[in-house]
Amino acid sequence: MALKLTRRQFVRSSAAAATITALSSGGVARGFPANEKVQLGWIGCGGRSSGLMQHMMNSVPDAKVVGVCDLIPERMEKAKAFWKRDNPNGYLDFRKMFEKEKIDGVMCITQICKHAEVAIPVLEAGYHCFAEKPMDKDVPACDALTHAARKAWKEKGKFYQIGTQRRCHPTYLKCMKEIHNGLLGKVTFMQGGWHWSSDPSEAPSDCDGGRFIEQASHHTDVMAWAMKDIAPVRCVAMASNQKDKTPSFSETHSSTTFQWADGTLFSYTHLWLLPGKYDAEVLTVFGEKGAVDLNAGKYWGRDEKNKDLGEASGKAWDRGTPEELADFVLNIKTDAKRLPNANVETGRVCSLMCIMARMAMVNAKKNVYEPSVVTWKDLGSTADL
Ligand SMILES: NC(=O)c1ccc[n+]([C@@H]2O[C@H](COP(=O)([O-])OP(=O)(O)OC[C@H]3O[C@@H](n4cnc5c(N)ncnc54)[C@H](O)[C@@H]3O)[C@@H](O)[C@H]2O)c1
Repeated sequence: MALKLTRRQFVRSSAAAATITALSSGGVARGFPANEKVQLGWIGCGGRSSGLMQHMMNSVPDAKVVGVCDLIPERMEKAKAFWKRDNPNGYLDFRKMFEKEKIDGVMCITQICKHAEVAIPVLEAGYHCFAEKPMDKDVPACDALTHAARKAWKEKGKFYQIGTQRRCHPTYLKCMKEIHNGLLGKVTFMQGGWHWSSDPSEAPSDCDGGRFIEQASHHTDVMAWAMKDIAPVRCVAMASNQKDKTPSFSETHSSTTFQWADGTLFSYTHLWLLPGKYDAEVLTVFGEKGAVDLNAGKYWGRDEKNKDLGEASGKAWDRGTPEELADFVLNIKTDAKRLPNANVETGRVCSLMCIMARMAMVNAKKNVYEPSVVTWKDLGSTADL
């Protein structure tokens, strides 16, 4: 399969896939018999994997895990035991797994600074790849993975899917469809936040780049989606760490504003150490005719014509995960004729937005929190289309 990759094509493919709401049923393609399962290799068996494995087991009957791999033997053994239904072989080196197993797709659930390091060889070996968000922690690694994912799709028809699960969340799909169909008129402002009572301040930022890069990609992804997958032109940000003052540990409080070329602003707060009452996810898109609260699944019209657009998420922040896993397997089973909703282009934009924000809140030379304006061009990415 040789498919040419353009921004328009990605957006079109995402829009087509966005109509999928019943993602778990097995449409069966030529060459993939109905009774045959999609064979998966699983790399990285840490914290996030335990939840993903449970969802895969419960919600995706078409998947079979044939190999599990982690650098830490106990984690690999634990994953093997979890998958006793599928009786996978265990590996400490994923390249050995590729030599021994017949695999259709690979799950890459490693730490952020290991995403490109693992996902690139997966794509180069000719497998479809699901990797957790964000793409990686810095621009060169994101660029390298972007180039590899585009090449894999263009030359081998193998796709890269990123785990920003809201792109498969039924309420978000419905809200976004309405926004893109003009429910709000022109989008004018977006507000977001992720607010926590827990304490991330002791988390070193050397591998994940800081909590903003680790987490905010979910929300930069949603707002870039509202803007039809166009990247912002600049951002400004301020942050602090209430305990250890240096950015070598994660920021505990930050405020970031992104701006698009048409002037639209996205204001985002990422806060920790709050009273539990304030644990919340905030995602609202404002426009000429009203507002859509994506977390509540509601439209608030200026004309008082309010309406429900879908089930509210509240604090069910993992919604969309079973659907994204089911879609990964379904896409493989149906011969990968489309890119996933959350693909290399959407993943690249949301990841680079997070890196851009961190650059704007931190003066890397002085290793202090210091605000500045950072433009998309300042990222120096080699992968802009
Ligand atoms: N989508 C979500 O809601 C969500 C939630 C939590 C975490 N995450 C993401 O999930 C990813 C993993 O986070 P985590 O908390 O599970 O990390 P973790 O450190 O608990 O687990 C990562 C595992 O990957 C293994 N690993 C690293 N390199 C490897 C290699 N070359 N071969 C085999 N195994 C390797 C490590 O040994 C480790 O066990 C991160 O990208 C994180 O941002 C996503």
